[in-house]
Amino acid sequence: MKSIFINGGKKLSGEVLISGAKNAALPILAASLLCEGKHRIANVPRLADATTFGRILQNMGVTFERQDSDMLIDSTGLGNPEAPYDLVRTMRASVLVLGPLVARMGRARVSLPGGCAIGARPINLHLMGLEKLGASVSIEHGYVVASAKRLRGAHIYFDTVTVTGTENLMMAAALAEGETVLENAAREPEITDLANALIQMGATIEGAGTDIIRIQGVEKLKPMDYTVMPDRIETGTFVIAAAITNGSVLIKNCFPAHLDAVLSKVTEAGAAITVTDGTIQVTGQREIKPLNIKTLEYPGFPTDMQAQIMSLMALADGTSVINETIFENRFTHVAELRRMGADIQTEGRTAIIKGVPMLSAAPVMATDLRASASLILAGLAAEGQTVISRIYHLDRGYENIEQKLSALGADIRRV
Ligand code: EPZ
Repeated sequence: MKSIFINGGKKLSGEVLISGAKNAALPILAASLLCEGKHRIANVPRLADATTFGRILQNMGVTFERQDSDMLIDSTGLGNPEAPYDLVRTMRASVLVLGPLVARMGRARVSLPGGCAIGARPINLHLMGLEKLGASVSIEHGYVVASAKRLRGAHIYFDTVTVTGTENLMMAAALAEGETVLENAAREPEITDLANALIQMGATIEGAGTDIIRIQGVEKLKPMDYTVMPDRIETGTFVIAAAITNGSVLIKNCFPAHLDAVLSKVTEAGAAITVTDGTIQVTGQREIKPLNIKTLEYPGFPTDMQAQIMSLMALADGTSVINETIFENRFTHVAELRRMGADIQTEGRTAIIKGVPMLSAAPVMATDLRASASLILAGLAAEGQTVISRIYHLDRGYENIEQKLSALGADIRRV
């Protein structure tokens, strides 16, 4: 079991390159199931989740090969439309194969993902949408079993905004007969990236990025040659790393327009931020101002940045309030930050953070992907040596994070 050791107190400075977006790459990898042939998907981050996704595809008879940051996928041999529990339980995003399999093969058997640290994570809306498209769906022994001769377009209303639900059904609708309307669809940039990949494959999609998406089904699609967008959550994590260490960092290969809510909040906390189309310059200030944050669906403040900005607020000059409206249990990082001297009280989905002058390094434990990022950020600022265990969580969503941070001057290593 590896751990990460950080000797805190170093100001970060220099340049960092952002990797491809995990949450765009995963649905785009799933989209390769929609037609046979050789797909090239570029800028896929080297993450455990991408490797797991490749194994799920392989398990179905699809070949995949990584060439540097490209994934070469040949889905001609797709034969076994199944995603087994032992793979799905390690990565909930596996549920994204459901829509493409039913659309291409007329059937699928995909393990229910089960819950995770941050919440129950039901997929009822994914299944509701598939039924609306004409699939018969049942739950058998922990698996979703779905089948349909040919999916037919439908009007699907999401009573809760769901990112992967929107993605799953957009992919299924691409091969359905007739028009599908997704109403109250998720507007995250990852949806638009997936839609652009599907359009390159020959799909007819309008409105991606808005809450109404119209898809005209087509008979067949063709293989893609697509480059995944930069990861906005990795970008936001480095913005906070610069702010929390009072450093000065130039973030490159990013897309600032995807981070308006995060950049405006970190500016409000006192950091100096200047952007160009593809770069963000962040300079921290000694005094960090407290904030009130409410996580919302895009374009609101992203829930995937909540743990990270809480670490910054732990050192603010005053009291901050964070309201987590998306997931029911996304404060698992609070107990670990308290071990480092943070003064945080939680009441349901609300956290009250009273800033302290300094965090004290301690042995802490990562509980989920973004919680582990918040512990790294706290460790960068804390006095002394922080040791973070269970860092396999981190490897799911951040490519080479220690190398990127030590290149910026952090004293960080994995043992
Ligand atoms: C995606 O998860 C992301 N994962 C998550 O990122 C992100 O936190 C989340 O969207 C919200 O932005 C990927 O894209 C792979 P949801 P997803 O469906 O799609 C409820 C990370 O750290 N809901 O938008 O699973 C659900 O319980 C991960 O990279 C239903 O009730 O999230 C939640 O409260 C963590 N029924 C809310 O909707 C459903 O059928 C939003 O969930 C589906 C969702």
